Amino acid sequence: MTQYQTITGEETVLRDGTIKLHGPEAFEGMRRAGRLAAEILDALAPFVQPGVTTGAIDDLVREMTLAGGAVPATMGYRGFAHSCCTSINHVICHGIPGDKALKDGDIVNIDVTPLLDGWHGDSSRMYLVGDVSLKARRLVDVTYECLMIGIEQARPGARLGDIGAAIQAHAEQHRYGVVREFCGHGLGRLFHDAPEVVHVGRKGTGPELKPGMFFTIEPMINLGKPWVKMLADGWTAVSRDKSLSAQFEHSIGITEDGCEIFTLSPGGLHKPPY
Ligand code: MF3
Ligand code: CO
Ligand code: CO
Repeated sequence: MTQYQTITGEETVLRDGTIKLHGPEAFEGMRRAGRLAAEILDALAPFVQPGVTTGAIDDLVREMTLAGGAVPATMGYRGFAHSCCTSINHVICHGIPGDKALKDGDIVNIDVTPLLDGWHGDSSRMYLVGDVSLKARRLVDVTYECLMIGIEQARPGARLGDIGAAIQAHAEQHRYGVVREFCGHGLGRLFHDAPEVVHVGRKGTGPELKPGMFFTIEPMINLGKPWVKMLADGWTAVSRDKSLSAQFEHSIGITEDGCEIFTLSPGGLHKPPY
């Protein structure tokens, strides 16, 4: 069992592999953190245009996070130095913001995690840059459907494996590849906690879902094969066959009769076009 200090330094949380069951105060904390994440993703939409650098997007995310009374949980996380991840085209996840400018036809995932009053709101969406090809837009649409189909499985009595099974079936029906190396995760006071939420699997397997569990679902779907390559920077994951990759992420909590999505867009900007 390992003890980790939260970034606030106010308390110590245990990390022992069990799936925590949270109460009403935790739901309230996650609701606020999740709402800020969603507001930030909403506010970014008009800025995601050809010519804008991913570093400029990162600056906006940091400013909005701080203005919302939170800090970006990614800053200083295992050596990551930025306020969000920006993953363009064949980048699957954890793209590092920098000088690179977005160009017409790109698809980009922006992943934000404000840490507000000790709670992590983790969410990402795809954005279309200028005129995007039909095949890229279809990948983005199906990836969003994969997330929402996964969320539909999340209710008490279901098994964690039901989520991955539903996502995998939908993606593979479209002949897309589901990334295995990265998964959703429990979260709350910790950024990454038990359980691991894999986006493939078999129905009826894995732990039973119970009210009070918090986790993300964040399928990464490749237009081609699911295989991953890591770049030398140690963060950027790309599709090995260089095919386009898309991802959406929500943070959810299991309730008595289903689940609550903490990171729903207040502006209705659920998927592009925004
Ligand atoms: N937000 C990512 C997730 O969904 C984690 C990013 S960690 C970073 O879990 F260090 F790469 F930013
Ligand atoms: Co996440
Ligand atoms: Co995320």
